[in-house]
Amino acid sequence: MRTVILKIDPRRPDGHAIAKAASLLRQGGVVAFPTETVYGLGADAFNEAAVREVFAAKGRPADDPLIVHVGSLRDVSKVCSDVPAAAKKLMRTFWPGPLTLVLPKSGNVPGIVTAGLQTICVRMPSNVAARKLCRMVGPIAAPSANTFGRPSPTKAMHVSSDLNGRIPLILDGGSTDIGIESTIVGLSPQRILRPGKITAGQLRKYLPDMEFAVSARRKPLAPGMKYRHYAPRAQLWLIRNPDHRKVSRMIKSQQRKGLKVGLLAVSRYCAADKVAIIGKKPQQAARNCFDALRWLDKQDVGLIIAEGLPETGIGAAVMNRLRRAATKVI
Ligand code: TXA
Ligand code: MG
Repeated sequence: MRTVILKIDPRRPDGHAIAKAASLLRQGGVVAFPTETVYGLGADAFNEAAVREVFAAKGRPADDPLIVHVGSLRDVSKVCSDVPAAAKKLMRTFWPGPLTLVLPKSGNVPGIVTAGLQTICVRMPSNVAARKLCRMVGPIAAPSANTFGRPSPTKAMHVSSDLNGRIPLILDGGSTDIGIESTIVGLSPQRILRPGKITAGQLRKYLPDMEFAVSARRKPLAPGMKYRHYAPRAQLWLIRNPDHRKVSRMIKSQQRKGLKVGLLAVSRYCAADKVAIIGKKPQQAARNCFDALRWLDKQDVGLIIAEGLPETGIGAAVMNRLRRAATKVI
């Protein structure tokens, strides 16, 4: 299959490109498109065969359910059997935006979308192109548009390096704004299942009982969180409280063993064979971290040493991703 890449301006997307994507989706095809978090690989949420194609293109296990994207509140009621008051409150405040809600599933949605669960993940993206596409097509089931287990794509180039030849169309809206996936929130009980840009503190202003349920030791709450993820091919050691001397010593000792070492650095860095700097500000780090992991992987290093960042705000979400990419946390 030939993969076509169409460039769009994410703020003022070209009608022709969106219409082409919408028409493919309506015919049961799959399309990669930008969102404000990461690129998604979409299919009509009511078309079982199309959703099966998404799983196949990504090599995603069937027990890992998808997120359904909507362009309007009316579409929420097509995929959910009930929308509790707490959910409505969060929708009014954070939608459109990087917040996914776990809600009771409507019987109209094929079981493949939710991997047989009676709940369904829903979000309304704020990216203009993504939302326009949802308004034209209806609810779109879309996981991140990477090969299963690889870092999520934040550029069209990342999508094509994973899925070229496996999907017909990629809408190229440039680099995504946020760079890591949406916050996932369950409502009964009220808890964060996957951290993201929208933090527990922000959510507690509206729902004071919201629990931050994600930790390295706890059983994963979102089915997909149990897999090693975002993973470069190289070994990855995450250093939780990095200091210059410790990191430097570690790099040198691995190099002496003959390993080519890559460093994912926050700002000031030590000499390594290859260095990617993701930025000191947590928002910057979020935007750059998946691109840096992919870039380091292409440099053919045997080991990546990643400097950790403070786990506050979106920094906690970045650390969640790095932990799950890591083969060792130090
Ligand atoms: O920002 C995002 O959320 C991006 C963009 C494309 O919207 N999407 C994304 O999808 O990250 P994906 O498939 O890579 O991650 C979805 C996560 C998985 O960990 C999955 O297990 C979890 O959501 N999930 C889906 N349905 C669920 C449910 N009913 N209950 C709990 N977790 C669920
Ligand atoms: Mg994913």
